[in-house]
Amino acid sequence: MTTDDTFAFIIHPIDPKSDVARKYPLLGKLLTEGQINYFSRFFPPVYISEITGVRSAATGKELRGWFIACPFTPKTMLELPVESVYRKIVACGHKAEQLGARLLGLGAYTSVVGDAGLTIAQRLDLPVTNGDAYTVYMAIEAVREAARCMELTMGDASAAVVGATGVIGRVCAQILAREVPELVLIGRRPDALDEVRALCAGHKAQVRASLDLHDIYESDLILTVTSATHALIEPEHLKPGTVVCDVARPRDVSTRVAKGRDDVLVIEGGMVEVPGPVDFGFNFGFPPGKSYACMAETMALALEGRYADYSVGKNISLEQVHEIGTIAARHGFRLSGFRSFERAVTEEHIVRVRDRAQAARRTRPRPAV
Ligand SMILES: NC(=O)c1ccc[n+]([C@@H]2O[C@H](COP(=O)([O-])OP(=O)(O)OC[C@H]3O[C@@H](n4cnc5c(N)ncnc54)[C@H](OP(=O)(O)O)[C@@H]3O)[C@@H](O)[C@H]2O)c1
Repeated sequence: MTTDDTFAFIIHPIDPKSDVARKYPLLGKLLTEGQINYFSRFFPPVYISEITGVRSAATGKELRGWFIACPFTPKTMLELPVESVYRKIVACGHKAEQLGARLLGLGAYTSVVGDAGLTIAQRLDLPVTNGDAYTVYMAIEAVREAARCMELTMGDASAAVVGATGVIGRVCAQILAREVPELVLIGRRPDALDEVRALCAGHKAQVRASLDLHDIYESDLILTVTSATHALIEPEHLKPGTVVCDVARPRDVSTRVAKGRDDVLVIEGGMVEVPGPVDFGFNFGFPPGKSYACMAETMALALEGRYADYSVGKNISLEQVHEIGTIAARHGFRLSGFRSFERAVTEEHIVRVRDRAQAARRTRPRPAV
């Protein structure tokens, strides 16, 4: 297929062994996690696959794209000097340029390191987006839909944002403050939390900031989006019936919650259905035809012909979130089901969670902290 509309998207291993095995089954099996973390420092950018079949529902325009892997894991990106990480991401960008991409999307941690894409954008001729605006849009859509599934009304529910001082958390908090009556902001830095609380003031929610994660216990809806490399939210942090939308990659919610709490609904940040007969040419862990929101932002901008830097840097505006939501909807991107710990969330699962939550509310005492 020939088309002038092209993009590339950078992915990287998050769970070192299983993600490396997706591309190199033998290496994933033989190398230890430590060895992968070490050797990944010397690996060049890796061509993963060609993406075809992304087609606008509005214009019929079709895209051609590519996945390129930055070999670094989150741990490596945090440990190395930021300049080394920039150099590797820029090298991925050059590979994208050679392939013919006209827009570059930064996935997961490549969008978090340093100044969230600003330096990368300055060093490349190729325009860049870190996908944060549509990630926010979809995270909020997912919270609203999950609340509906659990028979909670946004206008009556209490909510919390964990990682409220981050790029994504800060905007999510501002949107939720307009929709729920009570909002708890969780962070690590009092000054930064105060700034976010000020941004949320004057709307529907009574807003409280806290440094203590246990303060999410009373919340009906929790949106968690830290860049911690280990899980933070454990079973004892959650009351029965809570919805947790975990946007973070790697996850903020511990696998102990999946194993031990059948009375809470944990979902990932919202799976997006991509318009057209899309073939990603690579299994990144989602069902066919579905993508992460940050990938969808890159594709939606290319379909729109917006070949300019979009979400870059540490400030995403509410207007930008609204705009990308409108652009993506016009081309046919939409929220499409939930995943939880690598599995699809079924109707039956949701009904079971609701039933268990009702039973647990009668019997489970609030844990002592
Ligand atoms: N699902 C998707 O499509 C998608 C798209 C983009 C990004 N993401 C993920 O979203 C997450 C956040 O991205 P971002 O751009 O908003 O990052 P960010 O701007 O760096 O913000 C990270 C937030 O996490 C907090 N934090 C970091 N380490 C922590 C720890 N150990 N304990 C508690 N809080 C901690 C930070 O607190 P301080 O302010 O105190 O540092 C900050 O509030 C990342 O996991 C990223 O991979 C997902």
